[in-house]
Amino acid sequence: MRRVERAAALALFILCACAIEGRQHLNYITPIFQHEPNLQLSLLGKISDTEGSLARTFLSPAHQRAADQLRQWMVDAGMEAWIDLVGNVHGRLNGSDPEAPSLLLGSHYDTVLDGGNFDGALGIIVGIAATKALAIQAALAAGAQLPAPPAYPPANPEGEQGSQAEGGSSWVLPPAAAQAASSRLRGGVRLVAFSDEEGVRFQSTFLGSRAVAGSLIEAGMLAARDSGGATLQQVLQQHSGLGQVAAEVDGLALPPASLRGYVEVHMEQGPVLERRQVPLGVVSAIAGQTRAWLVINGTQGHAGTVPMRGRADALAAAAEVVSTVERRCGGGPYLDPNGQGIIPADDSEGLVCSVGDLRVWPGASNVIPGSVQLSLDIRSKSDVLRQRVVSNISRSIAEICAVRGVSCSVKRTHDAAAVLCDPGIMQGLEQAIQAVARQPWGGSFTATSSSRLGDDLEGQTCVLPEGQEAEEPAKVEVPVLVSGAGHDAMALAPITKMGMMFVRCRGGVSHSPAEHVAPEDVSVAAAALAHFLVTELLASSR
Ligand SMILES: *[C@@H]1O[C@H](CO)[C@@H](O)[C@H](O)[C@H]1NC(C)=O
Ligand SMILES: *[C@@H]1O[C@H](CO)[C@@H](O)[C@H](O)[C@H]1NC(C)=O
Ligand SMILES: *[C@@H]1O[C@H](CO)[C@@H](O)[C@H](O)[C@H]1NC(C)=O
Ligand SMILES: [Zn+2]
Repeated sequence: MRRVERAAALALFILCACAIEGRQHLNYITPIFQHEPNLQLSLLGKISDTEGSLARTFLSPAHQRAADQLRQWMVDAGMEAWIDLVGNVHGRLNGSDPEAPSLLLGSHYDTVLDGGNFDGALGIIVGIAATKALAIQAALAAGAQLPAPPAYPPANPEGEQGSQAEGGSSWVLPPAAAQAASSRLRGGVRLVAFSDEEGVRFQSTFLGSRAVAGSLIEAGMLAARDSGGATLQQVLQQHSGLGQVAAEVDGLALPPASLRGYVEVHMEQGPVLERRQVPLGVVSAIAGQTRAWLVINGTQGHAGTVPMRGRADALAAAAEVVSTVERRCGGGPYLDPNGQGIIPADDSEGLVCSVGDLRVWPGASNVIPGSVQLSLDIRSKSDVLRQRVVSNISRSIAEICAVRGVSCSVKRTHDAAAVLCDPGIMQGLEQAIQAVARQPWGGSFTATSSSRLGDDLEGQTCVLPEGQEAEEPAKVEVPVLVSGAGHDAMALAPITKMGMMFVRCRGGVSHSPAEHVAPEDVSVAAAALAHFLVTELLASSR
């Protein structure tokens, strides 16, 4: 019953949001949103190098099978598609003027070892569904003939699609229809499934997206080595059969002028949307990050014979450091509601600080610890705040060590500035989410005011089925989140405006087989991204 209600809610949204070109496309895109992304995510989740768990690392056999599958789904969505030298899968749907800048969509299809079905894959699959929806709507607007709308078997009670027979995971948009669609688009869509974001094989960051952004070589990544000792350059040469690859890698860079922006949909990987009971949120920034390594040297001794007074216990000092770090950044049971003067009480700067690695020497129950090393990880949307916290914590560490008579050194190992999302893209995503949320989608959104959304519809006619007119569309709360995790959007930010949409996940869990995004949240994410694309690119929608 709930499933039926959700189907009705999705149909209702599409009716309302896309009524401009008539309704015929609804017969196509409604079932696509409901079924295809979820089917494809579960199929992709089975393409793994390991038995019984999910692992796809750079250019592994499963990684290459996944690339072929993604390429095929992009073709089915009406795109030209190809796989580049570094394993990125590209899809392209041109606009009417091939020289006009395109909107770039993307996320990554590699996984961590023992990963889940959604990290990265979600953004690609939702991008394919949204591009297909745009192409269908544009093709019909151009008067193209399409084959019959897709018909899917009903889902079985577990929520998994029962049968994946008969190529049921992807309804095919014919090339002629895609061509007709192009004639109605102000700008094209570029979709890239990035080959490596997690960096498992080369300990790299954003390998795939850096190639597209043109920063892979300058980051020195061709010289990075995998565990077998092979450099990325050697691996690429062998894989491609080319003698030299540097020039080819250079050639993968997209010219900034060819892009109107980059949008990435990603699972939240945190608990905020779930706690606030909303399926989608807009990202305001990807946090900057400082990593540091702290060494504390005390005096090692016999746990039984050295009296308590006069000890220089390195671990006791470390414990004080750990609790100071937590407290300064607003965590722990001591939380001062006024934020202790160092952080804003409302958490808006997304400050998070963690000690995740602590090594005790010699690590025996009958020895006073002589030396401790620990990691510091400090992140915030605000670089100013992050630097202030880092220097405050550094000074506090010096004080703690002086008082305890231990010697300490703090070495910064990594500093990355925060990357802000483009306000225009954020607004477009917010409006797209509002447009989706105006309908009672599984009761997922909470209305915060009853103001009308007339402005957001930009002249589109809102067609509601009979009996629905009386309902006031209410503004909903669309959370604005800081991403504490890095994403491919960070690599693209130097060459184009970027924005991100987060999708609720269960328990905030990721990088685990337990990671889960509800099927209806996947569908609603595809619908929201499609709304964004239609507003941004379909010539008659403005
Ligand atoms: C799309 O545009 C590019 C140039 O930007 C061109 O090379 C390509 O052939 C076009 N694709 C189609 C299907 O027309
Ligand atoms: C760090 O910040 C806290 C809170 O504002 C302040 O009380 C403390 O004196 C600062 N410590 C140092 C060493 O600057
Ligand atoms: C801690 O001790 C090690 C080993 O003796 C030494 O290499 C290191 O420089 C010392 N660090 C500090 C901060 O005292
Ligand atoms: Zn990811």
